[in-house]
Amino acid sequence: MNPAPIKRACVIGWPIAHSRSPLIHGAWLKHYGIEGAYTRQPVKPEDLQAFLGSLREQGLVGCNVTIPHKEGAYRFADRRTDAAAAVGAANTLWFQGEILCADSTDGEGFVANLRAAVPGFSARGRPVAILGAGGAARAIVHALLEDGASEVRLMNRTRSRADVLAMHFGARVVVADWSDRSKACEAVALVVNTTSLGMKGNAPLDFDVGRLAEGTVVSDIVYVPLITPLLAAARDRGLPIVDGLGMLLHQAVPGFERWFGVRPVVTPHLRALVVADLETA
Ligand code: ATR
Repeated sequence: MNPAPIKRACVIGWPIAHSRSPLIHGAWLKHYGIEGAYTRQPVKPEDLQAFLGSLREQGLVGCNVTIPHKEGAYRFADRRTDAAAAVGAANTLWFQGEILCADSTDGEGFVANLRAAVPGFSARGRPVAILGAGGAARAIVHALLEDGASEVRLMNRTRSRADVLAMHFGARVVVADWSDRSKACEAVALVVNTTSLGMKGNAPLDFDVGRLAEGTVVSDIVYVPLITPLLAAARDRGLPIVDGLGMLLHQAVPGFERWFGVRPVVTPHLRALVVADLETA
């Protein structure tokens, strides 16, 4: 009898060279002693359908999906999780029998990381605030509503994008003007920056952490640098902070479990591996 073929997964995007997913999944494969492979796969936008249509023939058990394919992968899949449907995009594809399934794990990863970084934190029954209204904001709004937040305050430079999200998610999402962002966050349990402000090479986010209530958790999904100017200011004020790298690590957990059958653990060692890689980039 032939031995079972090794399980192979990959991450697709265009471009894809910057993706840290192979480092993360490769470290887990090694740690759990699984004979599997996880590679980077550049896929041009015009080739997406053909690529996804031949996953099986290529010997793949599934893949991660990143920019610009998240919406296309969502549409292509046969079945979608509630999170993927709420976001209208997918970052994780896997097979259930012959059925290609799609999930969006960013929101779940965000909340898992939040709980790991601030033990006992829950949004249940409390207002939270999100800056930005792109794809990442969508995933996080959904996850925080699922977590029971009483209200999600949304601020975005282009207000109409925030209004679209509020319409989509319903009455618990309330939009405030971008110019009122510091004031609108005065009495929330959590502030999340999902904009690209504060990322290396970009302007910092102009935000007054001095107005936040004692104990407000401040989180950034930007992870280059690891400590953004927003997080540094919050830390200086003595507020709990949650960086964006943890979300990147935690969003990878459900995919690995679906492809390779083991639910992996995000350890300080894994984090250190990725931090070291970011530092050499
Ligand atoms: P993603 O899907 O990763 O969230 P995106 O859709 O490009 O990425 O969203 C980026 C977010 O950063 C948006 O909320 C964007 O605001 P706009 O909708 O007004 O474009 C926000 N953003 C980017 N540059 C910004 C800037 N200079 N000032 C304020 N917000 C900015």
